[in-house]
Amino acid sequence: MNDLATKTKEAFIESFQCKPDALYFAPGRVNLIGEHTDYNGGFVLPCAIDRGTYLAIKSRDDSRMSVIAHDIDSEKSEWDGRSPITPDIEHPWANYLRGVHNELTKLGHDNIRGMDVVASGNVPQGAGLSSSASFSVAFASALSGTNQLNLSATEIALLCQAAENNFAGCNCGIMDQLISAAGKEGHAVLIDCNDLSLRHVPMPSDLEVLIIDSKVKRGLVGSEYNTRRIQCEEAAQVMGIKSLRDATPELLKLFTAKLNPTTLRRATHIVTENTRTELAAEALRTSNAEQLSQLMKASHISMRDDFEITVPAVDLIVKIVDEIIGDRGGVRMTGGGFGGCVIALVPPQYIGAIKSKLNTDYTAQTGLTAEFHICKASRGAGLLEKFS
Ligand code: GLA
Repeated sequence: MNDLATKTKEAFIESFQCKPDALYFAPGRVNLIGEHTDYNGGFVLPCAIDRGTYLAIKSRDDSRMSVIAHDIDSEKSEWDGRSPITPDIEHPWANYLRGVHNELTKLGHDNIRGMDVVASGNVPQGAGLSSSASFSVAFASALSGTNQLNLSATEIALLCQAAENNFAGCNCGIMDQLISAAGKEGHAVLIDCNDLSLRHVPMPSDLEVLIIDSKVKRGLVGSEYNTRRIQCEEAAQVMGIKSLRDATPELLKLFTAKLNPTTLRRATHIVTENTRTELAAEALRTSNAEQLSQLMKASHISMRDDFEITVPAVDLIVKIVDEIIGDRGGVRMTGGGFGGCVIALVPPQYIGAIKSKLNTDYTAQTGLTAEFHICKASRGAGLLEKFS
């Protein structure tokens, strides 16, 4: 067990005065390429990271849930599966879990055993690395394990996505929950969000996954995210297709006059990003740094100019890193946008130069101090340890 797993177990013993039955884990994620394509039935290429949420749990003889968030001043949220499950206004973090429990009930699982839970995690919160997906996926895995539901990774992801849509108010796609549930050590996963099929793609051994947190506070995330989704749906509707997955550059050309300029740009991003994502999976598999570099650069420009989800500070990080690594690696914004993180796939020998240049130039120009995380592509959610 690593330090955080041990700490979570100890916090459980201190809080509930008994040993937990088991420890569950679900990772956060970083997306290499394929942004906002998931809810358009497109392709994404994320990997699970070696940061996540740990849950120490003990099942109970009744249907009560008692969950302590160790990292949030040990706040506690309690509810009972036999009564209607409602959002917890005082503890918004608990709604990710309440939502999962509620969705399970909706599916007919109305006899879920209660659990005492202590949660602790090390995914930076609000940075766009899916700390909330890792929280809900860890809880869904624990519920599946303790109730012998044998839910597949895809079932867990769908459950958690529905919880986030219905209980947390964000119309997110499936990427974050699915990669958290289905990640594989040393691999990225090419997900076809049309049929949820997965293809594991080995990460090149000569490139590090460097995540750079811009530390820009992500203000408009929820509302802007939902607006982008509506604009994409509108574009598909105008072109008479089910989703933008079915759009092609030729179709966009045909409808140029019928789509308003903003909607056209949003659709252009999705169509071009899908192509880039499939090509990037191949470039990753063949360790083709030069092609990865070009694809990630084009993806960033498309997010900046067509989808308009980057902010100047994030653009600056991408520019500074790109000037250092050239075509020896790739760099782009990652995640939902409006702040958050940049992902760079870089040869290890450049990491020192990147850090020092950002510590001087980025800080001088923005007044912000970037934070660095070197991550490994990791396994998906599941049981870590059972205690006798
Ligand atoms: C957020 C959402 C995902 C996905 C990304 C953008 O992380 O939760 O479903 O849409 O933004 O690619």
